Amino acid sequence: MNRKSVSFSVLSGKGGVGKSNLALNICYGLHLLGRKVLLMDCDMGLANMDVLLGVTPEKDMQDILINNRNPSEILIPFGPGGQSGLDLLPANSGMAEFVDLDTGARSILREKLNPLAATYDFVCMDIGAGISPTVLSFAAMSVLRLVVITPEPTSLTDSYALMKVLSARYDVSDFQIIVNLTDSRDEAKRTYNRLSAVCKRFLGFVPAFLCEIRTDRSLVDAVRKQRPLMELSPRSPAALDCMAAAEKLDRLRDALPGTGDNNPPLRAVRVLE
Ligand SMILES: Nc1ncnc2c1ncn2[C@@H]1O[C@H](COP(=O)(O)OP(=O)(O)OP(=O)(O)O)[C@@H](O)[C@H]1O
Ligand SMILES: [Mg+2]
Repeated sequence: MNRKSVSFSVLSGKGGVGKSNLALNICYGLHLLGRKVLLMDCDMGLANMDVLLGVTPEKDMQDILINNRNPSEILIPFGPGGQSGLDLLPANSGMAEFVDLDTGARSILREKLNPLAATYDFVCMDIGAGISPTVLSFAAMSVLRLVVITPEPTSLTDSYALMKVLSARYDVSDFQIIVNLTDSRDEAKRTYNRLSAVCKRFLGFVPAFLCEIRTDRSLVDAVRKQRPLMELSPRSPAALDCMAAAEKLDRLRDALPGTGDNNPPLRAVRVLE
């Protein structure tokens, strides 16, 4: 059955800024709102969503390509108490040949994933950092793009570079900014304002502000315990912020068109010459 299925990618120029943890906990928040959510580990070179969840996948995304596996055979449910409706599509880590998929492999993957993706309300793609062709194509496939930045200047310049390449090469210029690792709302707003001012001046568009996520020791504990923060400490500052992000995404979904054959959750990618 086709639902209104909205895909969103979680991206960053600089690595280690919190993408995977935010993807995981925002998906958890969407599930708590009653949505059916698929979390895809699209960091094909250094996949680690299985580690964050403490699970050992028997099959993974690479099996779809190598062994012609049906994506639905690979799912690992991770809702409260192992409930389905919040499902992980894991990837294998350390297979160098998957770090950069060629155009053919990417479009086969997209075609094979779309029928499954269309049965979910949200499809989240946790993507590797940087500006490799695979990162850029996954970002261009999604309907919404969440760019994670931190107040560090290097995070700002790298995310600016990422948005610049996506808009120049893939004609994509709508982004939602998440400011992670903030100490105050002021700092988050200042960080966002700095990035949006350079985007406006040099790229001709202004990315939207989605939310801030506070620096939170409980998140580090959750990573060590290999459980979602939203499950372990749902009232902690970062968990409350992830819930706010989920609520905002849910409202954005309301305004988007429905899914259909001409409007699949994972879009065809067009590269500008
Ligand atoms: N809000 C936060 N509060 C405290 N620590 C955080 C927060 N966000 C991220 N971290 C720390 O940053 C680490 C890296 O996070 P994560 O693995 O999600 O980043 P990433 O962007 O996915 O990295 P990569 O680019 O390697 O995929 C976490 O293990 C945690 O220690
Ligand atoms: Mg990651």
